[in-house]
Order: sequence, then structure tokens, then C-alpha cells
Amino acid sequence: MSTQTIVPAALSEITKRIQTHQAKVGIIGLGYVGLPLALLYCEQKFPVIGFDIDERKVSTLRQGGSYIYRIEAGEIQQAREQGFDATSDYSRIKEMDAIIICVPTPLNEYHEPDLSYITNTAASIAPHLRAGQIVILESTTYPGTTEEVMVPILEKGNRLGLKAARGDSSTGAEFYVAFSPEREDPGNTTVARRDIPKVVGGLNPSAAELAAALYGSIFNRVVRVSSPAAAEMTKLLENIYRCVNIALVNELKMLSLRMGLDIWEVIAAASTKPFGFHPQKNGIFAPDSSNSRARSTSTCPIS
Ligand SMILES: NC(=O)c1ccc[n+]([C@@H]2O[C@H](COP(=O)([O-])OP(=O)(O)OC[C@H]3O[C@@H](n4cnc5c(N)ncnc54)[C@H](O)[C@@H]3O)[C@@H](O)[C@H]2O)c1
Repeated sequence: MSTQTIVPAALSEITKRIQTHQAKVGIIGLGYVGLPLALLYCEQKFPVIGFDIDERKVSTLRQGGSYIYRIEAGEIQQAREQGFDATSDYSRIKEMDAIIICVPTPLNEYHEPDLSYITNTAASIAPHLRAGQIVILESTTYPGTTEEVMVPILEKGNRLGLKAARGDSSTGAEFYVAFSPEREDPGNTTVARRDIPKVVGGLNPSAAELAAALYGSIFNRVVRVSSPAAAEMTKLLENIYRCVNIALVNELKMLSLRMGLDIWEVIAAASTKPFGFHPQKNGIFAPDSSNSRARSTSTCPIS
């Protein structure tokens, strides 16, 4: 029996299109995460279409304008000249090779994750899915969301009866799924976005391969993990680590204020330890803050 791997036509086709920067990239959710991502793909000469349900954003982008302070209108105009378009028309999903979802995932009034933006997006994509496309979720969410929440909606709602590719074998009549968390650090001008390693977890090896190739076109380093859930958990670890440490330092800040100590002097001194200590520079109360009643955790933005 031959051990040669059979690469389905749809898979080899999309791989080639990614490698030659011809793959059509659809970014869903043109906010703080989605719009810069769309521009990164435009810079690398990929054909890009942005999808958003907010007609004002779509219209602003189509007129060459920007609504994000750190993105100049000129960058949008340059992308437009290279073919970037924005739309609220989900039927254009069928034109895409890769679909990257960057919609919000806020907490609801009970502090539970509100996944309605993800489920609504999946339901809107599903009717237009075709074999060989890859769908990647970037929204911050709990482990299991991609496989247990998003994939069933995509499978149930697509007109062709396509299934997400799982396991090692592939028939070619499937779509591919992965999760890759966003690591944007708003306001950070010291690390170029392409230098932030991109973590990727595919639902199967082919999906991981495609997602790694896609992100490898715009990021200098792609870190592959074994599953979408592992990638989702990676993002949670990073966020929780940051929140816990910001809360800790804010508690010590309040204590220091009462003791007449300067917490920034203490942080600077602790930072000289060459291992085991990582200073949190964002989210700490301002040095002159005297609001000792403020809850420290309220300064920890979750993104
Ligand atoms: N902003 C950050 O710094 C940051 C950092 C890391 C991770 N994240 C995560 O990335 C995700 C996106 O965050 P963001 O800050 O870009 O949000 P945002 O609110 O700036 O943008 C989200 C966009 O999605 C659009 N949208 C909502 N529902 C839609 C739908 N069904 N179809 C199409 N578009 C839809 C909205 O109109 C909006 O333009 C969230 O899960 C967030 O937690 C954000």
C-alpha cells in the first residue's frame, strides 16, 4: 500500500494561493483588531475585503477615511488603491479563500462571555461557505468556543452540507478551521506588529498548515499549538497573568500610599531581578493617584 499523502485539489490550490499572496482574505469585524490586520494583508499585496455590519464604518472606509485614531486616512487610501474594499454584504464570503473573524466578545451583565457576535457571524458566513476555505477565529474567548460553538453553526448552516476538516484524512469537500488569538497591545510603539509571534491552533493538521502559511505571510514568527482550544487557553493565560499581576501591584500601590512609599521605586528595584519578576507597566494607577478606595481590578482591561 502506498504511504504517499494525497493532497486534495482544494487544499493544494488554497496553499498555492496563500504562498503567492493571491489568496483572497476576508476580515470580519473592522475594529481595533480587524482593520489593522486587513491593512497588514494589503501591505503584502493580498486582495482583501473587510466585512462589518456597521454601515458607517463601511462607508467611511469606502470613502478612504479612518475612524481609528492611530490609523491615518492615507493608509486606507493606499489600501483602497491596492484593491481593499469594505462591505456589509455577506454573500461576498464565497469569493474569499480565508476568512478571519475579529468580532467583539464582551462580558454580559452577569459577567459571562457574550458569544452572540461570534454566533451571529458564524450564522451569516455559513450559507456562503465553499470547500477549501479556511475560517479562523481571533476573538478572545474561552477554550472550546471554536470547536463546540462556531463549527456546529458553520456545519449546520451551509447549503452544500460541508463539514469542517478533522483528523488526518481529507476528502477535499471540507472547509478548514483554526483559532489564533490577537495579541495587539494598543499604544505600544516599541514592538512592530509583525514581530509579535502569532499563536495558531488548527482543528486538523491541514487547517494548522493553512493558518500558519496565512499568518506567516505577515508575521515573522508563527507558533503552532495542537488544537484551537490550546490556542484559546494560551490567550486566557496571557490575559489572566496580566490581570492578576496588575491587580496585585494596585493592591501594593494602595498599601504603599498609606505607608508613604513610592510603588514605582519599589517596582523599579524589583525589576532588577534577572528572573521570576516581570513588571506590569500598563494598568497601574497613576503615580500621583490618591484614590485609595478605587478597586484595583477595575484598571485591568480585558482584550
Ligand atoms: N482591541 C484590542 O486591543 C484587543 C486585543 C486583543 C484581543 N482583542 C479581542 O479581539 C476581538 C475584537 O476586538 P476589537 O477591539 O477589534 O473590537 P471592536 O469593537 O473595535 O470591533 C469589532 C467590530 O466588529 C463588528 N461586528 C460586530 N458584529 C459583527 C458581525 N456579525 N459581522 C460583522 N462585523 C461585526 C463591529 O461593528 C465592530 O466594527 C475581541 O474578542 C477582543 O476581546 C482585542
